[in-house]
Amino acid sequence: MNPLKRLDRRRASVLSLVAATVLVTPGTAIGAPDAVKASTLGAQAAQSGRYFGTAVAAGRLGDGTYTGILNREFNSVTPENEMKWDTTEPSRGSFNFGPADQIANRAQARGQRLRGHTLVWHSQLPNWVRSIRDANTLRGVMNNHITTLMNRYKGRIHSWDVVNEAFADGGSGQHRSSVFQNLLGDGFIEQAFRTARSADPSAKLCYNDYSIENWSDAKTQGVYRMVRDFKARGVPIDCVGLQSHFGAGGPPASFQTTLSNFAALGVDVQITELDIAQASPTAYANTVRACMNVARCTGITVWGIRDSDSWRSGENPLLFDRNGNKKSAYNAVLTTLGGTPAAPRGTTDAAAELQ
Ligand code: G3I
Repeated sequence: MNPLKRLDRRRASVLSLVAATVLVTPGTAIGAPDAVKASTLGAQAAQSGRYFGTAVAAGRLGDGTYTGILNREFNSVTPENEMKWDTTEPSRGSFNFGPADQIANRAQARGQRLRGHTLVWHSQLPNWVRSIRDANTLRGVMNNHITTLMNRYKGRIHSWDVVNEAFADGGSGQHRSSVFQNLLGDGFIEQAFRTARSADPSAKLCYNDYSIENWSDAKTQGVYRMVRDFKARGVPIDCVGLQSHFGAGGPPASFQTTLSNFAALGVDVQITELDIAQASPTAYANTVRACMNVARCTGITVWGIRDSDSWRSGENPLLFDRNGNKKSAYNAVLTTLGGTPAAPRGTTDAAAELQ
């Protein structure tokens, strides 16, 4: 073979290897060549092996602007309320999967991944659970709830928030008071994770909480000690979800340190409920950059689509305005993921509705 051709071939295969590495290695997308830049959040995040998701409310699925953006931008979906205990098991042993199925089936039909949220949480917990006074009864009820939900969606959920917000605010670094803590003691979290692993061995099992983003905070340290202990004793845990409900300044300076310190324990980290008061582009970029810089930060979920969909709507904390138009924070996020914002056009609504 002509030596020049051989050189060309070798160069081509080296280049394709480099391109493939860029496509699959978390953290490399920022330097990706133009050819692999995408113009939507999910597609761009996928190029570094990550997902970019949003919370979805079943009640909004009839809104065309909402679903247009949902279909176009996101490759992972978290039901905002529909998988919580008050909706899924409002009375003992009587399960309601209607709203959760609506979201899950829709996501699956469109190739979007699903996060399960959440199995054991002191809030949005029906009174019949709250008022249980006997440990054995509560243990049985908790295990049955976990097993029933995980069986229902077996093989369809990439990550489950098995236990949500079990740690107290403030300086104690201890678990908060709840019916689970008060009747079952510290071991309830371990019990929940063991039950979850048996129910769906293919799902990643996450502990999810807020105000654990600043490394030196007692709450962060408490969760870190728990995860370290679980890993040391072989208690099944695969990921830590950092909710990341930030004030206007965005993430604390130590955010990336926190992500990498958890990751160094041998778990994935995920940003699970991101929103930022006033949505400063810099604050969003700083958040996304911290994730991109940590190989085991596997995905980001924003907690809603438009400002008007947010639980904090008065603070305009999301990436799309009330009319569904991209905000400047959107462009900051896409750019930080390694993508190229599309040229501005009159309105994004029409295009979104065509999707
Ligand atoms: O479904 C009822 C409806 O029937 C009723 O008419 C209406 C009147 O208020 O309330 C509806 O329920 C509301 C529910 O959202 C669904 O819209 C509840 O009042 C309201 O409290 C509930 O808020 C949710 C909140 O969790 C409850 O704790 C938010 O949508 C949801 O975004 C928020 O999400 C949590 C995460 O799960 C965990 N981390 C914190 C995050 C923010 O609080």
